[in-house]
Amino acid sequence: MDWPQLREAVSQCRACGLCETRTRTVFGTGDERAGWMVVGEAPGAEEDRLGEPFVGNAGRLLDQMLAALGLARGHDVFIANVLKCRPPQNRDPSPDEMQRCEPYLRRQIELVAPRVIVVVGRVAAQSLLRTEASIASLRGRVHACRIGERAVPVVVTYHPAYLLRSPQDKARAWADLCLARRAHDDATAPERA
Ligand code: URA
Repeated sequence: MDWPQLREAVSQCRACGLCETRTRTVFGTGDERAGWMVVGEAPGAEEDRLGEPFVGNAGRLLDQMLAALGLARGHDVFIANVLKCRPPQNRDPSPDEMQRCEPYLRRQIELVAPRVIVVVGRVAAQSLLRTEASIASLRGRVHACRIGERAVPVVVTYHPAYLLRSPQDKARAWADLCLARRAHDDATAPERA
């Protein structure tokens, strides 16, 4: 699927029960040829209402995290979630929902072909890296996520919603972002289709 086909498929998706309760699908936003990708968990209430990822309080902190990297929404970064529809009451996504939605994210990663992916939060990290490891054990190193022909560097950090509740961990998140910056700068620009 190319971008228009993928957007259409997501907007029409009925692969799981979340299609019954969503207001809008949340495809993802940003530069389709970005060097950076941010992957979150799933849309919340504001995202479901507006159809855009990370637009609530957590989104404002994510924007600050991007600014600390010299990035801004829409410029050299593409932001997406593992799930394209909101789980009711913001419950954790079920394994079945994640499995059904995952091909959309994987295709987005293939099309963007980022130099690095920053995954925020345990749920997204476990899904993308196909592991049950804790966030504590996943932070602090660069993982390789095989997407199509490429092994894409992945750095795991805390979810901004968690950082709003636990600001004492912001210094650790900053260290993660510095690691992601190094991984980005070390990666050669990938070939794009
Ligand atoms: N949390 C996420 O993981 N994604 C969003 O889009 C909003 C909040």
